[in-house]
Amino acid sequence: MRIEQVKDKAVATKVAAKLFMEKANSNAYKPFGLATGSTMDGVFLALKEFGYYPQAKDAFALDNYLGIDSQHKNSYLMELSEKFSTRLGWMGTLHVPGTKEYSGDGGAALFESVVSELGPISVQLLGLGTNGHIAFNEPGSSFDSRTRVVELAEQTRIDNSRFFEHVQEVPTHAVTQGLATISGATSLILLVLGERKRPALLEALESPGPQTPLAPLLDHPDITLVTDLAI
Ligand code: GLP
Repeated sequence: MRIEQVKDKAVATKVAAKLFMEKANSNAYKPFGLATGSTMDGVFLALKEFGYYPQAKDAFALDNYLGIDSQHKNSYLMELSEKFSTRLGWMGTLHVPGTKEYSGDGGAALFESVVSELGPISVQLLGLGTNGHIAFNEPGSSFDSRTRVVELAEQTRIDNSRFFEHVQEVPTHAVTQGLATISGATSLILLVLGERKRPALLEALESPGPQTPLAPLLDHPDITLVTDLAI
């Protein structure tokens, strides 16, 4: 794993955005992989500032809540449409697990087959949950996992309740790319910002195992960790 440790969040965000742009441009006609959450918002703003326009016609999202309408403000299709596609003026297709053709029985399998058909994903952005989750692969997720429905950890629902009125409104389940799906991307960029992520990051780096979903990605041939944490 390559580590880019920089002085603050703003610099880390720009370093990650620049790396994403370089990796995506060097494999310009392959789909790229997006992530959601407050960490990624800054990356998308930086991409806009750099004047980035993706050449690829398709992008894959990591995950989405189950039981939330695609038009709901907390749907990851809405979040990525607004914060990535509209902001950058990108007209390509966002493939988001659990939405439209990817919902219901067989939706996850179809998502996997479309990743295989159009992929490999050139570069996948990743964040880290405070409990160490990667996408919505919670601690204990199988390292061989593929796109599937999962139950969210209580900590994840509490962390993400800031985007909802009440924690009770946060869905209990989600659809997520699996750890093996994520490993299939040509390059991975993991952006970890802020002290609240330190325990999860250190645990994954120092004691990787079944409870640290980052573990199977540590040996990926092209993974870069960008962080403001002195580790
Ligand atoms: C959500 C997403 C993850 C993301 C995580 C961190 O739970 N499913 O993919 O990495 O949040 O989010 P934040 O950047 O807001 O801390």
